Amino acid sequence: MLNSQINRLINSSLSEIDPEIFDLINKEVARQSEGVNLIASENYAFKAVLDAMGTALSNKYAEGYPSKRYYSGCQFIDMIENLAIERLKKLYNAEYANVQPHSGAQANMAVYFAFLKPGDTILTMSLNCGGHLTHGSPVNFSGQFYNVVHYGVSRNNEMIDYDEVRELALKYKPKMIVAGASSYPRIIDSKIFSEIAKEVGAFFMFDMAHYAGLIAAGIYPSPITFADFVTSTTHKTLRGPKGGIIIAKGHYSKDIDKSVFPGVQGGPLMHVIAAKAVAFKLATTQEFKEYQRKVVNNAKIFAQTLKEEGFRIVSDGTDCHMFLVDLKNTGLTGKDAEEILNSVGIYVNKNVIPFDPQPPRITSGIRIGTPAITTRGFEEEHVKELAKLVSLVLKDKSKVDYVRQKVKELSILFPVYNIS
Ligand SMILES: Cc1ncc(COP(=O)(O)O)c(C=O)c1O
Repeated sequence: MLNSQINRLINSSLSEIDPEIFDLINKEVARQSEGVNLIASENYAFKAVLDAMGTALSNKYAEGYPSKRYYSGCQFIDMIENLAIERLKKLYNAEYANVQPHSGAQANMAVYFAFLKPGDTILTMSLNCGGHLTHGSPVNFSGQFYNVVHYGVSRNNEMIDYDEVRELALKYKPKMIVAGASSYPRIIDSKIFSEIAKEVGAFFMFDMAHYAGLIAAGIYPSPITFADFVTSTTHKTLRGPKGGIIIAKGHYSKDIDKSVFPGVQGGPLMHVIAAKAVAFKLATTQEFKEYQRKVVNNAKIFAQTLKEEGFRIVSDGTDCHMFLVDLKNTGLTGKDAEEILNSVGIYVNKNVIPFDPQPPRITSGIRIGTPAITTRGFEEEHVKELAKLVSLVLKDKSKVDYVRQKVKELSILFPVYNIS
């Protein structure tokens, strides 16, 4: 092949080189703006974040850390990673930060590998009550490597029972206690967790993946001063790129750095780290704080409207960006509800609820989150309208066509990106 042909390939656009992928990307972007996304773990990243990700930073190998790389040519990469670290520390008032974890699961893995040995006991929230797979599920490495003891929620109010946590900690003497969750809609008291951890000599890790944006905005209690380690994703309420982070007390820095690289990862994704830096900058703005306040307000209004429509809300409400609907008295499973809502362009996920009689692939509940619709600009009146549409179609399947049309009309009011 001639050099000129090779150069032509390097500089050709995606639409020229690969119309198939180009077309599918466009279809997915259209899907994201035509439907209504109520998946609590998803959001629309800032356009500036997407811009940073689609750059030639992806070409650079940078194993190691700023000023301590295994490759040359890292002078700008170092500046980018340092900016990301400094912004993250400032955002959460933290002593130490690592911005390299490729995902939330890898952030958790890096902390476990740094401070636990196989066979050690960890005390974590059960999956049924809101915990994440990486908090000791038997199908995840965490459940296979460690001796897992779970706390749950009280049958009375479906909230964490801190007396139970303390009893289990005293009985099993875990090496680490983990708080934070994927589907727990209430405030988690990090102070009590840290006191229990201190009492039994355990490390305390808080996985704030879901609440990170709310915490940055100061409207959900920060675990930073109480936890030894705080892990997170950057793509949920924080609206950054898909990725993970670790924040910790300063004296853990060496162990965590070593555990992330070379412990569990190779070269950092520098285009993603640049995008994380952009998100951390945006998270300090007044607009971001106001956005997070609206996210929580919209979740409360959504839950309240469904309650007025006769649905049971787990724990009777929410303190954050998400809540769970118990469908047991409706004759529908979570899977049924997910499918019905999907057919009208409303995306939710089926979710186990506390003491769920159904297995995880069926479930008795759905999880509803408001980060994505709030990013699009949904105000109280639109949230109420949407909640009533959800109620209508779940109660009466013959209304599918009517609701689909209404959802479309609502979506058109709120375009996502100004990308043609
Ligand atoms: C609490 C919690 N931790 C960790 C993760 C894992 O994040 P990732 O999907 O980036 O690995 C999630 C993802 O949903 C989560 O909810």
